[in-house]
Amino acid sequence: MWRMIAACMLSALSLSSVGVAADGLSAERQVELRSLLQQDCGSCHGLTLKGGLGPSLLPAALAGKSRESLLETVRNGRPGTAMPPWRPILSEQEIDWLVDRLLAGDGALHSTE
Ligand code: HEC
Repeated sequence: MWRMIAACMLSALSLSSVGVAADGLSAERQVELRSLLQQDCGSCHGLTLKGGLGPSLLPAALAGKSRESLLETVRNGRPGTAMPPWRPILSEQEIDWLVDRLLAGDGALHSTE
């Protein structure tokens, strides 16, 4: 199962190297990461990231937390809690991009509408 997921991720990654955007992630990859944010992160943090099993990831909730500590949480998860580590499936650059979306309040698909 993980092999299949890894194979899909790899092919998605190599496809996405075609049209690389200014910040280094292709438009296609950004769309994929947005849907990951909504569906995977959203399954715990709420579809609109207002919180659920995991805490709210909206800017007001993250204010006062350092960007580095948020990056660290997404990379390695929080041992002893439901927050899983994402480093096995996301690149450093992708984790950076996701945390920047959260801090900008541009994380949930619906929040930009
Ligand atoms: C299986 C459930 C689950 C999933 C999936 C999940 N999280 Fe979490 N997350 C949590 C929990 C629970 C916490 C709170 C951990 C604690 O109590 O310290 C947390 C904490 C966090 C924090 C720290 C928030 C703070 O206020 O310090 C960030 C940032 C975060 N998650 C981002 C993400 C992102 C980005 C994703 C998707 C790539 C994600 N999470 C997916 C459960 C989850």
